[in-house]
Amino acid sequence: MSGAITGRTVGMDLDQPTVPLPGEVRMPLLGFGTWQATGKAGYDAVLAALDAGYRHIDTATMYGNEEEVGRAVQESGLRREDIFLTTKLPPERVGRERETIEASLRALGTDHVDLWLVHWPPSNPADSIPVWREMLAARDEGLTRAVGVSNYSTAEIDELIQATEENPAVNQIPWSPFLYDRQRHIEHRDRGVVLEGYSPFKRSDLSDPVLTRIAGAHGVSPAQVVLRWHIDHEIVVIPKSVTPERIRANADVFQFALTAEEIRDIDALGST
Ligand SMILES: NC(=O)c1ccc[n+]([C@@H]2O[C@H](COP(=O)([O-])OP(=O)(O)OC[C@H]3O[C@@H](n4cnc5c(N)ncnc54)[C@H](OP(=O)(O)O)[C@@H]3O)[C@@H](O)[C@H]2O)c1
Repeated sequence: MSGAITGRTVGMDLDQPTVPLPGEVRMPLLGFGTWQATGKAGYDAVLAALDAGYRHIDTATMYGNEEEVGRAVQESGLRREDIFLTTKLPPERVGRERETIEASLRALGTDHVDLWLVHWPPSNPADSIPVWREMLAARDEGLTRAVGVSNYSTAEIDELIQATEENPAVNQIPWSPFLYDRQRHIEHRDRGVVLEGYSPFKRSDLSDPVLTRIAGAHGVSPAQVVLRWHIDHEIVVIPKSVTPERIRANADVFQFALTAEEIRDIDALGST
């Protein structure tokens, strides 16, 4: 691991690895995904996740669960500043960015989020820069501590940087050992963009022999190996589950460490 990771999240009460974002913001490398976790199941899952030690929750306007997420955060007994909250702007809200984040904040019951992402590149490329300027304005007004993008190519990120001299703090994209692309990771690092991976399990074959061998060597599950591999690469990972045992197991990934050789073997799954 590089020196970018520190052992403790400022203001957070658990010893979790974090990655720095611009503006003194620290993002926990392990987060909790909430897509398709709605209603009571969503509320229960987020409450269970906070109880299990996650301090980073990923939601989106499109998920239709910000109200449940917000209620779980408020009723968890944790301080707001101890939880890193992400939400996302749907592409069809172009031109209505400000009212969209205000609606998110109302639903979440907070006066700011920690990270606001453009969920997908706008369908009309001419909208890209205006949307990005609106994101930056929301950050400058304190509605969000950091801003970023999701599902953007490196070329689309470069376009934003060239126009505004402001890099997205994060790009959230599909990622797993089977999608491992060293070059793409380097491109993010070179631009000061934190890579956040989504769908770590859906994009993995958890019965793959490399994963099961390494899991067996550490007495953990292949799913835990996949999560630990992201963290060892300083890639933010946001597993989703509505199953209490899985929610807990997916957070229990700090009691073992992968060797350099194991990491190389897992990396190689990306080129098979
Ligand atoms: N920006 C974007 O466009 C975008 C797109 C997709 C996802 N995301 C974000 O990324 C998060 C994660 O991605 P995802 O929800 O697509 O997929 P995921 O986290 O890779 O997989 C979730 C699925 O895996 C199951 N699961 C959870 N833990 C498991 C374990 N230990 N062993 C085996 N199976 C397990 C879950 O089942 P149960 O729930 O039944 O336990 C669920 O069916 C989302 O929730 C969302 O927050 C963002």
